[in-house]
Amino acid sequence: MKIIEINGLEKRFGIKKVLNNVNISIEKGEILGLLGPSGAGKTTLIKILTGQIKAEGGIAKVFGANCDKLPSEVYSNIGIVMDNSGLYGRLNCYDNLKLFAKIFNVDKTYINEVLEKVELMDAKKTTVDKLSKGMKGRMILARAILHKPELLFLDEPTSGLDPATTERIHELIFELKENGTTILLTTHDMYEATKLCDNVALLNEGKIVEYGEPLSICRKYNFDNSINILLNDGMKVTLKNTSESSDAIKEYFENNRVISIHSSEPNLESVFISLTGRSLV
Ligand SMILES: Nc1ncnc2c1ncn2[C@@H]1O[C@H](COP(=O)(O)OP(=O)(O)O)[C@@H](O)[C@H]1O
Ligand SMILES: [Mg+2]
Repeated sequence: MKIIEINGLEKRFGIKKVLNNVNISIEKGEILGLLGPSGAGKTTLIKILTGQIKAEGGIAKVFGANCDKLPSEVYSNIGIVMDNSGLYGRLNCYDNLKLFAKIFNVDKTYINEVLEKVELMDAKKTTVDKLSKGMKGRMILARAILHKPELLFLDEPTSGLDPATTERIHELIFELKENGTTILLTTHDMYEATKLCDNVALLNEGKIVEYGEPLSICRKYNFDNSINILLNDGMKVTLKNTSESSDAIKEYFENNRVISIHSSEPNLESVFISLTGRSLV
């Protein structure tokens, strides 16, 4: 079942085209990553899908409903993590969630469970304004998942956060996926995209320049198709990835000479650079 369907989506701000014929579909339980540098159009796409702004052309549907006019049932089934987090700075963590629990008709007992999940139980009574950046990042996620939405929009959920918080958020994203949640996330971090996403769309200046499974995309651009070996005498050897290299590789292994061995496929950053001439950050 398609949770999100986007066909030929176009968006302009003034004369500037910021989304240009975007086509995406996301299945139930899939994590799709929109990977692109700042200004690529990632946030604009999320705003269109969540009904915050309108597109000029094409069709975008969420749970089968047109994003121009999303019914309230759809809103109660999506969670959004964006900069404008919607948290109340002067309320503490618990009271913030209590407020949203009331709006979404969520059982209050679930608040503690969510605070536990994002590791903020100890900060339960801390006002949001006093939280560290990493804690606030987790709190924004807590708010977004409180009503157990089937679809989550995560706009750069780990941008600027410390490695430990990033790791915790990644674990939570996997947990949510395991429970069947569908996730659209944006990032300019290729490691995050490779690790988390079933599929990625590489977005540059409003256009999708490549789309698919992260590792399949990397293999597709493996034009070298070689094997790089580091030997224990410090020598670096590059061999063709064909049967004619097998004798040499066998010899290195038999004599315990191999320190590391890697295939030559590029990472998503290199693919992006070769397609667009620019880097992701
Ligand atoms: N409200 C707006 N008015 C005018 N231009 C905008 C507006 N919002 C975004 N843009 C422009 O649209 C482009 C895409 O922005 P955005 O979607 O925020 O990119 P990203 O999230 O990938 O960094 C950028 O060139 C940005 O300057
Ligand atoms: Mg953005």
